[in-house]
Amino acid sequence: MGTEKDFRAKVESALAQPKNLGELEDADAVGTVGSAECGDMLRMWVKFRDEDGRRVIDRATFQTFGCETAIAVASVATELITGKTAEEALNMDSQALAAPLGPLPPLKIHCAQLVEGALRSALDPNSAEQGDVDAVAPTLLQSFQGDGGAPKKVVLRTSHE
Ligand code: FES
Repeated sequence: MGTEKDFRAKVESALAQPKNLGELEDADAVGTVGSAECGDMLRMWVKFRDEDGRRVIDRATFQTFGCETAIAVASVATELITGKTAEEALNMDSQALAAPLGPLPPLKIHCAQLVEGALRSALDPNSAEQGDVDAVAPTLLQSFQGDGGAPKKVVLRTSHE
C-alpha cells in the first residue's frame, strides 16, 4: 500500500519529465473541463490510428491550468490510453488513469477526476461538452485571451459526477 510520501515522490518524478504536454496538431478529438472544486482546467487532445482493423488512440496530449497532481495524472494517463480504443479508454476511471502514481490521497482525487473528465469530454460522443477540434483555439491559454469573440463556456465538473 503506497503512502502519501510515495505518492508525492511519484508525482515529482512525473513532473520532472511530463509526457505529452502541449496541443496536438491534427487531433481527431478534443475535450476541455474545469473543476468546480478548485477552478483548475484541463484540455486533452486525442488522435487515432487504425491498427489491425481497430481504431486505437495513436497519441493523446494535454494542457492544463492545474496543480502538480493534475499534470502528473495527465502525463501518466496519456501514456496509459495510447493503443486503446476510445471505448477501452472510457472504461478507465480516474483511479485507473492515475494508477502508476499509486493510491490518490483524498484531497487529490478531484485532480485525477479532472483528467478523466477531459478524456470523457473528448471521447464520449454523448458528452454534452464534447469539443469541435476545428472550433477550439490551439492552446488552452489562447482560449481565454481576449479575441473579441463570444464569451467562453467551460463545463465545471464536481467530484460527484
Ligand atoms: Fe485543482 Fe488539483 S487542485 S486539479
